[in-house]
Amino acid sequence: MAPIPVAEASTSVERGREIVRQHCTRCHVIPGINPYGGIGSTPSFSAMKWLDDWARRFEIFYLLPPHPSLVRIEGVSEERSQSLPAFSKEIILKLEDVDDILEFVKTLKTPE
Ligand code: HEC
Repeated sequence: MAPIPVAEASTSVERGREIVRQHCTRCHVIPGINPYGGIGSTPSFSAMKWLDDWARRFEIFYLLPPHPSLVRIEGVSEERSQSLPAFSKEIILKLEDVDDILEFVKTLKTPE
């Protein structure tokens, strides 16, 4: 399936899905996107939905390790500390993108 450019995606869910596909699949398994991908030790997005506070975690994921060293939210996060490990490509998002990610994750079902 051809990827939908983020700017052209019409709904929050579509934008969230595309942001996740571009930036989160490197480590996380996301149902419907990369069921066999990700890194084994990284929790899958659907498994996280077992947690009562999963939505809160997605609202602030960029503050939770290991993300502060790889994700920067424009206008929110400080410039990356030089003491943190450098990743090949920093993920730069807007606060609206975090909302879109949350809207997308809301559509995922908890595993059976
Ligand atoms: C470089 C790998 C990597 C990338 C890229 C990545 N994550 Fe994660 N993420 C992790 C790991 C590892 C954990 C588990 C951390 C732990 O168990 O303490 C995690 C945990 C999480 C959690 C749960 C946090 C908690 O402490 O409960 C959320 C929510 C999350 N990631 C969202 C995202 C989103 C959204 C993206 C894309 C914008 C993303 N992650 C990109 C590695 C990554």
